[in-house]
Amino acid sequence: MGLDLAEQVRLLFASLSREEKAFLGGPPFTSEIRRELENARAYEQGILKLRSRISLGYCVFDSNEVVIGYQSQTLLNNAKPSQYERTYLNLQDPLNQIQLRKIFVNPNTRGRGVAQGLLKRSLELAHELGKNVVADVIETNISIQELLKSNKMNPQFKWQTRKGTPMIRFSN
Ligand SMILES: CC(C)(COP(=O)(O)OP(=O)(O)OC[C@H]1O[C@@H](n2cnc3c(N)ncnc32)[C@H](O)[C@@H]1OP(=O)(O)O)[C@@H](O)C(=O)NCCC(=O)NCCS
Repeated sequence: MGLDLAEQVRLLFASLSREEKAFLGGPPFTSEIRRELENARAYEQGILKLRSRISLGYCVFDSNEVVIGYQSQTLLNNAKPSQYERTYLNLQDPLNQIQLRKIFVNPNTRGRGVAQGLLKRSLELAHELGKNVVADVIETNISIQELLKSNKMNPQFKWQTRKGTPMIRFSN
């Protein structure tokens, strides 16, 4: 039997460089990816029950049906800021945005608009739901910042993780 989609996404993550893996903050769990993919499927079928935080995952495939890109995001519906968000991002009010979480593309298929396509889907999703999009990126990760800026997402404020990693919050 072939690899299921979530396992393919894990393999895709494994193909990234050490630095890129660090940009993403460690490997996603297969169970997490599976849930994100199921949620996105349910959303596209119009049967997803929105909770205060729910994550959706989308894949891009090459012509051989191999996964070459993955992106996940969390839909926030009147979500109470977590302890972490209150402490490190100084977020106090209920959250109603789409939070981009992870985006990665096979190193052999970069520069061909794969990430652009994935981000476009998030922006459409935000439009459908009447929400803003936010993304927290590591300050030294230039490619993702260029991608966000080319989609009218701009830096809002800087913050630091618990370990002191410098971050920038982008929003549209
Ligand atoms: C960031 C990443 C997802 C981009 O994927 P991609 O499919 O190559 O991106 P696209 O071809 O769709 O590029 C779209 C735009 O992003 C920007 N961009 C992408 N790669 C870039 C690079 N290396 N340097 C500068 N800008 C870049 C450009 O504005 C580009 O538009 P252009 O081609 O018209 O100049 C990819 O480099 C990646 O997987 N990086 C490792 C994982 C990571 O850091 N993810 C972000 C943290 S969650």
